[in-house]
Amino acid sequence: MKPIRVGLLGIGTVGAGTFNVLKRNQEEITRRAGRAIQITMVADLNTARAQEITGGACQVVNDANLVVTSPDVDIVIELIGGYGIAKDLVLKAIANGKHVVTANKALLATHGNEIFKAAQDKGVMIAFEAAVAGGIPIIKALREGLTANRIQWIAGIINGTTNFILSEMRDKGLDFATVLKEAQRLGYAEADPTFDIEGVDAAHKATIMSAIAYGVPVQFDKAHVEGISKLQATDIRYAEELGYRIKLLGITKRTDAGIELRVHPTLIPAKRLIANVEGAMNAVLVQGDAVGATLYYGKGAGSEPTASAVIADLVDITRLATADPEHRVPHLAFQPNAMADTPILPMSEITTSYYLRMHVADQPGVLADVTRILADSMISIDAMLQKEPAEGETHTDIIMLTHKTKEKNVEAAIKKIEALSTVMGQVTKLRLEELS
Ligand code: HSE
Repeated sequence: MKPIRVGLLGIGTVGAGTFNVLKRNQEEITRRAGRAIQITMVADLNTARAQEITGGACQVVNDANLVVTSPDVDIVIELIGGYGIAKDLVLKAIANGKHVVTANKALLATHGNEIFKAAQDKGVMIAFEAAVAGGIPIIKALREGLTANRIQWIAGIINGTTNFILSEMRDKGLDFATVLKEAQRLGYAEADPTFDIEGVDAAHKATIMSAIAYGVPVQFDKAHVEGISKLQATDIRYAEELGYRIKLLGITKRTDAGIELRVHPTLIPAKRLIANVEGAMNAVLVQGDAVGATLYYGKGAGSEPTASAVIADLVDITRLATADPEHRVPHLAFQPNAMADTPILPMSEITTSYYLRMHVADQPGVLADVTRILADSMISIDAMLQKEPAEGETHTDIIMLTHKTKEKNVEAAIKKIEALSTVMGQVTKLRLEELS
């Protein structure tokens, strides 16, 4: 059979990895796919670098439009990123009858509904294993391996940069700003790390997983996005004393009222496997009603780990390209005409446990006032830690862990606690998930 022809948009870190792994493992990949997969065209603004990587094995152009319109390309791999030019090129590739493989989580989380619809109408496939957790085959697991299950929740460490920063903060007792600088020096964090540290990248990935898990459209605009830039080393230390680690989790949960979709620093019991995922590694914990908990661990970024996911998509498409479009695996796991309109819940309606830290005057009645406010808001205390005031200090820290309650109850209670004359400054609120 003739090779399937691939056009690559962008031959940076992941593009080069894809080219190299395809070449290195060509024979085994062909045996798996049933026909050869050949990169025939590469578009990159840096044509000299592209020539150097490809060594004359394929046509190199500097205009991506030439690839997405070429009659000699069957599959387009989009590795440009962002939602500007990448969106135009993906839609143009679809309009020209090309299947598309993309690692672009930002694009799919924000414009996925339009892109999947265009692909559906045209009868082509959009594959995006590399968009979530890099080399971990979590899309495949959710969409196919766990297809028997009613997925109950997913909790993932899906941003390596922030996991590296949190691991370093905990290990070395350093503050966020110091570790961020170090992460940038080592190349873990981008020069502009906003998307990573503010939770946006993780929220893109959680949005995609949520759509696949529950058969709902992608709805990034409804996700709660909170990063780690305001997290204090003090809270990492107190959490540790109480038996918890703080991780930036992407969480999506099915509840009777709707779907929770949120990214925020989260306390999790130190004894959970996922709490021990350190450095830039990623892990995703999925709870299905039949299988129970399953955990997926691996590299969430990098040249060949991400290429591993890109090539898995190429093989999938190669195997299914000749299949009747009606009988392919649906993009979002559920048949397009069977999607649900289950609402994504506003943050005030989510239910979880909380870590509250307050700085209070060390005098009679203060604790009683705080616990009265919590009781009045129907918030039950699970654990408490009070520190002796430091030498010569009149105030001290109180840390409380609550049982599960609604976010709006906690917000209301915090307002009242902060209004007490014996409480200094703001109450620090972090969310806690037992993940059991
Ligand atoms: N910037 C991401 C991370 C990798 O730090 O995990 C690509 O999504």
